[in-house]
Amino acid sequence: MKNKLIGILLYKDDVILDVLRWDFGPWPDVALTTLFPDITHAIWQKDAIIVSSSLVTNGLIKDVLIVTSPIRFSDQIVSQVKIYDKSSMQQEKLVYLPSLGGSIDMDAILMDNVEAMCVHRLDGSILIVNAAFERMFDWTADEITHASTSFIPESLKEQWHDCLSLLQAGITMPSIETSRSRRDGRMLDVRLAMAPIMDDQAQLFAVLCFLRDITPIKRLEQNFSKSVAELRVAEKKLREKDKLSIVGTMAAGMAHEIRNPLTSIQGFVQLIADRLQDDPVLLRYVHIVIDEVKRANHLLVDFLQLSRMRPINVIESSLSEVVNDVVTSLEFIAKEKNVRVEVVVEGTQEAHRMLFDENQIKQVLHNIIKNAIEASFHAGIVTVIVGKDYLSHEGYVEVIDQGDGMKREDIDRLGIPFFSTKKGGTGLGLSVSYSIIQAHQGRIEVDSTVKKGTKFRICLPDKEKLQAMKTRQDADT
Ligand SMILES: Nc1ncnc2c1ncn2[C@@H]1O[C@H](COP(=O)(O)OP(=O)(O)OP(=O)(O)O)[C@@H](O)[C@H]1O
Ligand SMILES: [Mg+2]
Repeated sequence: MKNKLIGILLYKDDVILDVLRWDFGPWPDVALTTLFPDITHAIWQKDAIIVSSSLVTNGLIKDVLIVTSPIRFSDQIVSQVKIYDKSSMQQEKLVYLPSLGGSIDMDAILMDNVEAMCVHRLDGSILIVNAAFERMFDWTADEITHASTSFIPESLKEQWHDCLSLLQAGITMPSIETSRSRRDGRMLDVRLAMAPIMDDQAQLFAVLCFLRDITPIKRLEQNFSKSVAELRVAEKKLREKDKLSIVGTMAAGMAHEIRNPLTSIQGFVQLIADRLQDDPVLLRYVHIVIDEVKRANHLLVDFLQLSRMRPINVIESSLSEVVNDVVTSLEFIAKEKNVRVEVVVEGTQEAHRMLFDENQIKQVLHNIIKNAIEASFHAGIVTVIVGKDYLSHEGYVEVIDQGDGMKREDIDRLGIPFFSTKKGGTGLGLSVSYSIIQAHQGRIEVDSTVKKGTKFRICLPDKEKLQAMKTRQDADT
């Protein structure tokens, strides 16, 4: 049943300007405040006031609902009053607002409001919605009030009941951020404000909701928080890097200092060994001490290399000669494993003359060829190819084995200090090698297949590039 409209008046400052509709016979020539004695002037000045009143005219007393809304003409505000017959209103839509001390018509409140609004029954179903609501959620009023699917998402039902408990207890609810579903199932982030609607016994029987779409703000917020989170991670990494570099410098200093007493120990133990020729048991112990001191010293040399304490000293040398020297020094280890190391020299000896730090490149080749021997199966072959790329003028050494090979994740960890899959391996060999090659502005490429073998390719830049680097280094020192 439609609410019965019984009067529409236009007024300004409580003086009636026009009577657009009046169902009570002739219009009485009185001021509004006289006509509706319980409505004060203050109320007229507010926007969209709805209040219950009684109208006495022609000896009749009628309970009416008065809805005022301002109409603006340039700088003037003229108000419009609509008067409804309360007795004709649907009971369910007549609600009691304690603050105004009377019943109000929900349709009237929602009608022209630009904000999406709806009235919920306590079970969450919807009683009334306005046009802004229909636009925002793509539901028609008829569909949503008869919908079997819920407008409040299942996961937020508990939040809804919590809000009801607060409203029921008379606690004013602040607006909350939550979600509501559109007709197509898409969720909208909304800011929801709720006002309790009480029945005549001042019991909560429905809730008036104001909903504002905050999806774009939320999206902005999310992007912002993501950027902040990324910044924090980057900042943390930087700080860790800083910490690491401080710890690294301290450790390198310590390693350097430890080498001095080790050199003395090694020297004196060697002297003791010379005097113990007649005592084979003690001599064996002393030799163990010497071996262990050598091992510790070796570790420290690797560690210092890793922390780049030693600058590179490039001189012109032959890459193929260096390769041959290293292979010779590894003969014993290869023989122990019954592995054959073959050297293939591509191009002329002259072509292999390059600028590099001989000792350091020897160390790299030693580490990589030793690894290849260690990875080889019994009676395997390690092939070492040395040559020069005529296009890029880079020198290269390829070390190819047919051994264990590596998994993808292990290849990715190569060069990380202390990464080792070997019993007793320090995991420093490749770290040192990578840092040496990096200092030479070269690169190491790895290709590996599990159980088939591995190829390491070490590339060194051409003479000109290294010469330029050497000049820069000389200028720095
Ligand atoms: N040719 C290869 N085939 C298979 N795995 C290899 C090969 N070269 C290196 N690796 C893998 O890389 C790891 C790291 O090598 P790296 O030389 O740095 O340390 P390590 O050989 O374990 O110990 P060390 O510091 O004594 O050399 C090895 O433990 C091994 O798992
Ligand atoms: Mg190694």
